[in-house]
Amino acid sequence: MGEALLRSGRTEHAFISFTSACGLRCVYCGRLGNVQGELPARHLDGIIAALQARGAQLVTVSALGETTARRGWDGLCGRLLDAGFELNIMTNLSRGYSQREIATLARFKSLTVSVDTVDPGLFRRLRVGGDLHMVLLNIQRIRSPILARGETPPFLFWTAVVTDRNVFALEELVRYGLKMRVNRFFFTDLNSGTAPNWARPVASLDRARLTKAAAVFARVRGILDRAAIPYWIDPRLPGSTRPEVRPPPGRRTRDCLAPWREAMIVQDGSVRVCCFSLRSFGSLEEAPLGEILEGAPLRAYRSSLLAGRLRPECRICGSRAWIGVPAFREKVAGYVGGIGPGSAGRRPPSTARRRAAVVARRERGARSRSSTGQGMR
Ligand SMILES: C[S@@+](CC[C@H](N)C(=O)[O-])C[C@H]1O[C@@H](n2cnc3c(N)ncnc32)[C@H](O)[C@@H]1O
Ligand code: SF4
Repeated sequence: MGEALLRSGRTEHAFISFTSACGLRCVYCGRLGNVQGELPARHLDGIIAALQARGAQLVTVSALGETTARRGWDGLCGRLLDAGFELNIMTNLSRGYSQREIATLARFKSLTVSVDTVDPGLFRRLRVGGDLHMVLLNIQRIRSPILARGETPPFLFWTAVVTDRNVFALEELVRYGLKMRVNRFFFTDLNSGTAPNWARPVASLDRARLTKAAAVFARVRGILDRAAIPYWIDPRLPGSTRPEVRPPPGRRTRDCLAPWREAMIVQDGSVRVCCFSLRSFGSLEEAPLGEILEGAPLRAYRSSLLAGRLRPECRICGSRAWIGVPAFREKVAGYVGGIGPGSAGRRPPSTARRRAAVVARRERGARSRSSTGQGMR
């Protein structure tokens, strides 16, 4: 099974970064250290074909810049939607959009909107150039017409970068978000790889304030649990739902299938597997996406995880738990052998079957979910 575990055959979730540009200058943003530019539009047909062949369903457009800052972004996303993919976007939603742009966002499966706080003054200081009122207005512009038709709007997720500046205002954020019918919340620790700035990691608080911060998270968890709304708290934050557990005895590795099931296409055409690793496994300028995803560099990377000989970025990755090597190999075998979800053993659906499945899912969703868009997954 050794060599077989190194291939994937299937991509479940792709990420496309169309641009590094952005109209805001959030105090903590590290995007400037990343690759600059725009993904040439000529790559899109090849990406769509490869992702269809690999049975991908979900494409997240965003990553390193602000997708909606690119001229013609709605046309590019429209092509992905027309090809049958479900789209998610991580966005600052911070501009006055045209009606056509709003209509494109309304076709998305989910919108992950960056909202660190619902205090407009603090929002302006953290997300420099941004305006909370504009964000909230855009959410209403996207959802109101859909709700008026009695249909289901895109799922709405809020993601907050938690720092010493906003941690004590998170309860307010969550209560407001619940009124806005937010379907899921994400709380991310500040990535300290960025230059020192006005906002600092929660971990830099003194002991007393750290205890207070943990209490805030306990209350936030209570509010969301009572409302039955899912959430994710970064394991590095004091209120994490999944604090880093002690590694299992014996040889260990990261419990991460991203190199098998995910693909991230960066604006310079390079292909990565997650947003924590800057490692490129090939370039669309030199090879098609499908080849890169089964190529030697990515197979070597998968092999390092399977053997527990971790690359530095996997060793320090806070987003995945530790797992024993034998258990992980079993998981990968399940994925590539047809037991696990999205296994390579299953034949990727044809475009026609996939479109039909998307339509069926939408119809099922419209029937089964309330018009508030709640009750995700
Ligand atoms: C780089 S942005 C790109 C998408 C879009 N421009 C936005 O702001 O939502 C992706 C996410 O990373 C978050 N982010 C940016 N800098 C960060 C940092 N230093 N640590 C943790 N999260 C950060 C942003 O707030 C945003 O939610
Ligand atoms: S909106 Fe997103 S990409 Fe733009 S500066 Fe803020 S975090 Fe960075």
